[in-house]
Amino acid sequence: MEINDINKIILETKKYSRQMVPKDLHHGFEHCQRVRDYALLIAKTEKADSNILEIASYLHDIGRGHEKNQYHTKTSAELAKTFLTNLGLPAEPTQKIIHCIETHSRKLRHRKTPKSIEAKILYDADGLEMIGAVGLLRTALSAQVQGKDWKHVLKKARWRLKIKNDFLTLTGKKIAKTRQNLLVAFINQLMKELENKTCALEDNNFCSKTITK
Ligand SMILES: [Fe+2]
Ligand SMILES: [Fe+2]
Repeated sequence: MEINDINKIILETKKYSRQMVPKDLHHGFEHCQRVRDYALLIAKTEKADSNILEIASYLHDIGRGHEKNQYHTKTSAELAKTFLTNLGLPAEPTQKIIHCIETHSRKLRHRKTPKSIEAKILYDADGLEMIGAVGLLRTALSAQVQGKDWKHVLKKARWRLKIKNDFLTLTGKKIAKTRQNLLVAFINQLMKELENKTCALEDNNFCSKTITK
């Protein structure tokens, strides 16, 4: 495929993604862009196909909010196949992209496992969005959308603690490791605050200093 053609396809895919994904901070377009950035970063060291990854990153969550079946991965894959075929992308790269989309979800990994290096990278890139500062804020945003309480936020945050070791590429594992301390410290603090044992409440000096100023 000519370089100009692939650039055009990437541009069209970006536009389509912006139009299709939910208009929220949890699974919205900014999430897709960060996943794309992580995927391209990992692709450099893992020697993977960056075009496949850029397109798959933009399309991986387009099925959210359009689910025709139980799994957004399946809907995203079906919509992506139709979109890419209409754009004229050949069957081989289309199939590689579809495999990445179908296997990117941790919750659904028992159904389909990422096999290609590109699919493993998308899995890791999406996982990096679950841990770290943005990831922890996304637990609260998701709870808000679903009308859940703080107990639910804590439960989801703890689940994110479990996935910190669930990365498939060496580069993904390395980046995930740099986020572990923040993740553990944040969840410990959240537990304390939700159990009404915050450092600030225990520290009387902190309160009096603040009041007398
Ligand atoms: Fe997803
Ligand atoms: Fe995602």
